[in-house]
Amino acid sequence: MGAAPGAMAEPAKVPAGPADLVNALNDVFGKNAGQRAAHTKGICLSGTFTPAADAPKLSKAPHFSKPVPITARFSLGGGNAKAPDNAQDNVRGFAIRFDLGDGASTDLVTISAPVFFVQTPEQFVELLETVGSGDQDKIKAFFESHPASTRQKAWLTSHPVPASFAGVDYWGVHGFTFTNAAGETTLVKYKLIPEAGELGLTPEEAEAKGPDFYAEELKDRLAKGPVVFDLTAIIGKDGDQTTDPTLRWDDEDGRPTAPLGKISIDAIAPDATCNAFSFLPGNVVDGIAGPASDPIFQIRSPAYLVSFTRRLAP
Ligand code: HEM
Repeated sequence: MGAAPGAMAEPAKVPAGPADLVNALNDVFGKNAGQRAAHTKGICLSGTFTPAADAPKLSKAPHFSKPVPITARFSLGGGNAKAPDNAQDNVRGFAIRFDLGDGASTDLVTISAPVFFVQTPEQFVELLETVGSGDQDKIKAFFESHPASTRQKAWLTSHPVPASFAGVDYWGVHGFTFTNAAGETTLVKYKLIPEAGELGLTPEEAEAKGPDFYAEELKDRLAKGPVVFDLTAIIGKDGDQTTDPTLRWDDEDGRPTAPLGKISIDAIAPDATCNAFSFLPGNVVDGIAGPASDPIFQIRSPAYLVSFTRRLAP
């Protein structure tokens, strides 16, 4: 049905493609020549993953049945190459590439919050454009009309500034489906738990640390031994939604979990190692499937490849 003559038609929502999302990041944070459009500031790492004995009962993915080398990267959210380490309202990132041999790999790309800040690619662009405008009334109106976009910040600001990349939990956020060798499927969400425990700073300590302490802290920590995380699967149940990454499952923290293995970060690796490729959320293997119905999950890898292609350009 057309709009009545003289009435203002609602502008049609133009679907946002991967390049639109990277453009929106570039518009807010600048082009970051040669660097990532998001999670620009980070530290490249190397280590190993050792699967838990029962991990193959959940998934037939190769790294759940044999130890494999990993390349990983800790990062700060956003496209600011100088993002302050002591900000409370920013996510920390932890990306892992499992080297499966013969050039094959699978990736896991996580953040230090259990939820994301938008439900759709269009909201991602709208949110960045709104924040980028600097117009406080517009920003307020966006969050009032998009309560789902307030959840991540609310979560972060109710937790202390992590004292270390190695002292905070990380989540895969999206729901993944595991399939084992018998063809049985299990819905899961990934959670990484640091063996060092949760290490938080008081606001005064965070202030005193300043904007650049994570790299040194990690160097000192690794000089004493590996940084270890338990990779766990939060077990889903029938009816759990996998379409909206701004929402947790009901009683998610009370759910049964299954150990998947131990991630051991052994050393800092040259930046060039991590910059030579892109950690891709959709780089999964037989035995692991991402959520087909989650529009954020679906657009992530194409957007990361736009960023990757641009950072390789001369
Ligand atoms: C529409 C939603 C999203 C967009 C457009 C987006 C965009 C990007 C881009 C462009 C990069 C840089 C890729 C590269 O140059 O290699 C990146 C990196 C990253 N993203 Fe996202 N992202 C989104 C959602 C998420 C979510 C839901 C998570 C966590 C669950 C996440 C975690 C990360 C992390 C940890 C990195 C750093 C990877 C590294 O260290 O190389 N992102 N993102």
